[in-house]
Amino acid sequence: MRGLLVFSALLVAAFSQKRFVGDQVLRVLTDKEEHIALLRELEESEDLQLDYWDVPSKLGLPLDVRVPSQSLQPVKTFLESNSIPYTTMIEDVQKLLDEEKRAMRRARKLKRSCSWSEFFSFYHTLDEIYSWMDYLVARHPNLVSKIQIGESYEKRPLYVLKFSTGKSRYRAIWIDTGIHSREWITQATGVWIANKIATEYGKNASLTALLDCMDIFLEIVANPDGFAYTHSRDRLWRKTRSINPGSLCVGVDPNRNWGAGFGGLGASSNPCSQMYHGPRPFSENETRAIANFILGHGNVAAVISIHSYSQVLMYPYGYTSQPAPDRQELDALAKEAVEALAAVHGTRYKYGNVFSTIYPAGGITIDWTYDIGVKYSYTFELRDTGCYGFLLPASQIIPTAEETWPALMKIMEHARDHPY
Ligand SMILES: *[C@@H]1O[C@H](CO)[C@@H](O)[C@H](O)[C@H]1NC(C)=O
Ligand SMILES: *[C@@H]1O[C@H](CO)[C@@H](O)[C@H](O)[C@H]1NC(C)=O
Ligand SMILES: [Zn+2]
Repeated sequence: MRGLLVFSALLVAAFSQKRFVGDQVLRVLTDKEEHIALLRELEESEDLQLDYWDVPSKLGLPLDVRVPSQSLQPVKTFLESNSIPYTTMIEDVQKLLDEEKRAMRRARKLKRSCSWSEFFSFYHTLDEIYSWMDYLVARHPNLVSKIQIGESYEKRPLYVLKFSTGKSRYRAIWIDTGIHSREWITQATGVWIANKIATEYGKNASLTALLDCMDIFLEIVANPDGFAYTHSRDRLWRKTRSINPGSLCVGVDPNRNWGAGFGGLGASSNPCSQMYHGPRPFSENETRAIANFILGHGNVAAVISIHSYSQVLMYPYGYTSQPAPDRQELDALAKEAVEALAAVHGTRYKYGNVFSTIYPAGGITIDWTYDIGVKYSYTFELRDTGCYGFLLPASQIIPTAEETWPALMKIMEHARDHPY
């Protein structure tokens, strides 16, 4: 009987959406070395079930942590008794999720009654994004096509939009969004960008000139299993969905799984960690597919991998504090790009190398692409700086995409004008 009860409880847990009632996101201030060590220990505690939204590694950087409601008391006591200052960034995570759901329901009603025109101001499911991609291809058959670069762990197709005016042997730009599935602003920005490219080609002179000599490849949902899971079960899922043999914890961090500095700083060998690097480099189909595509193409001049949140634009390296050989040029271009970004809505971004701008991180996308020879390798962390974190309201999708676009243009045009 007891077994049956446990079994049905598991069944309910397995088929219903995880709720976050009363969970809070605390912003913890780390102004002492020993605080960082304490916060690392806290993360390892399995009973507290904490969800770190970034990595405790840098003095002076705030650390955002989602604390399940039942752990709030012990965690707050721990912080207070160690004199670690914190503020409450999100009072009740579930409230934000409920609001997000309401907005998505409104979007579906709108879509039934009118057209695609409202599509960009809402968050969407994987199926909605995939069918919108087909629509875009059908609308712009001479410019846009859809290619499949592989299959996810759960056998979903990994689709990439290719924007090409058809002249062969082009140099190319690679852009990916959504490799961390809970960073919903990134997939939404990817959708907006795809539409921008498709509709402005032939109208905007700069974009037209760019596409007349470079192809753009855009993978909007780089982690479709994780993304589907954020809709069906756990909105705050970050990793892939691969089973880890010998562990109950699922998934690998696809931005620690690349073959440069693999297993180094800022990555974890614990399958339960949000930063689990996986059993070996490119163990994940999702990362291997991109790597194979870039190697197979052979002429990728820039790679831009888009994440959220914290408003930074970064270049290599993450796995070492050593400056990248092209540091000066990459830094100057990053400065130009964030200025172009700020000119749109006044949003301020920091920029620099990954290692010292946010934290050391081994096995990340752009270190690998840089090390195989893609000079213009950049990663964005989009809005915001911590009011909503991963739960950015849909009302900010369009402004976020609008401001990101000229920054992307700066990088793409520079790559075009500086062949190497
Ligand atoms: C990974 O990708 C390969 C090739 O696309 C596919 O055959 C395989 O089924 C996928 N899944 C896993 C778990 O490897
Ligand atoms: C074309 O796009 C660029 C980059 O976004 C922008 O700066 C420029 O103002 C646009 N030109 C026109 C005529 O809209
Ligand atoms: Zn990310």
